[in-house]
Amino acid sequence: KHIDWSPVQAERGGYKHFMRKEIHEQPEVVEATLRGRIDLAEGDVYAAEMGVTPEVAQSIRRVYFVACGTSHHAAIAGRYWMEQLAKVPSVVELASEVRYREPLFYPDDLVIAVSQSGETADTLAAVKAAKAGGARILAVANVLDSAIPRMADGALYTHAGPEIGVASTKCFTTQLAALLLLAVYMGRRRSTLPQERAQKVLQALWEIPSHQREVLGDADYVHAIAKKLVHAKDVLFLGRGLGFPIALEGALKLKEISYAHAEGYAAGEMKHGPIALIDEQLPVVAVCPRDAQYEKMHSNLQEVRAREGQVIAIATKGDEAMLELAQHIVWIPKAPDEVMPLLTVLPLQLIAYFVANLKGNDVDQPRNLAKTVTVE
Ligand code: AGP
Repeated sequence: KHIDWSPVQAERGGYKHFMRKEIHEQPEVVEATLRGRIDLAEGDVYAAEMGVTPEVAQSIRRVYFVACGTSHHAAIAGRYWMEQLAKVPSVVELASEVRYREPLFYPDDLVIAVSQSGETADTLAAVKAAKAGGARILAVANVLDSAIPRMADGALYTHAGPEIGVASTKCFTTQLAALLLLAVYMGRRRSTLPQERAQKVLQALWEIPSHQREVLGDADYVHAIAKKLVHAKDVLFLGRGLGFPIALEGALKLKEISYAHAEGYAAGEMKHGPIALIDEQLPVVAVCPRDAQYEKMHSNLQEVRAREGQVIAIATKGDEAMLELAQHIVWIPKAPDEVMPLLTVLPLQLIAYFVANLKGNDVDQPRNLAKTVTVE
């Protein structure tokens, strides 16, 4: 059969843009990140290439994440997991801040540099500062043998394949998968994570690709929601706990490619300022799965509704209470709290994609942005 595609169309696998193709590749690339690294029976993780031996894992006193942009959002989730599952005190900081503020690093720090390209100038400079302080460096990167992994003591590669769209999508979810694996690994080595909980988390991670396929199957519905956002000048994204970095990421995606002003906020901070913005004109995208943060998110959304704000919720299937609070709901399958970010981010990526596409923007190469920022 004759296929009428140009070489570039063929590269995009029949999709109009690389970004759309990369969004739909996520189940398969998350599988690639997990492949060969999970032992479900033992509730354990294998990744010797990281250079974090059991002795090193036990001697670390602090984990210090450095990253920029989307990778910074993955690092925030990484920090939450590291503290919840491995009980290692952790901090996360923007690489561009670390490099100019005389930070303190110690030999018993594990510095985790998260970078898709492995070439981001600010992240590389933060790694140099950490190295000067004697810290151990672990790179979580996608591009093999790039500058940051080369400078690090070890690397955990995400195996997402080349990402062409400037807006990062599949690299983000594979970073999440890698960072969750790392937290389980650390928790097991430090005996802070019981085997049973580790098994539960790894099983849930293992099931993520099939849940992601289910969410991506609802893209047409998300398209209908995006149509209502095309003329919005401002959009507020709210989340709590692991939903917080997802709210930040949803807002970053929307501003990068649709050029709308979007803000990601921790829902608990609403009353300290952003609630003043809410009126019937303001769409609020709420990351509100049925997790440990649910009740608190729910009451934040009631505050939004009381001020006539328009709520678009990302919620768990079967959550009837959401029907009264939200004008539009994208349903995601039930899954344990720890893996939720790998699902809740998908509708947000799609919303950004569809809004930008409806506006006729250059989705894969948005104005003023470069895929890899090798300058300051
Ligand atoms: C993501 O959509 C952005 N284009 C950007 O924020 C990116 O994540 C950032 O520049 C960091 O890049 P890196 O992961 O290659 O270091």
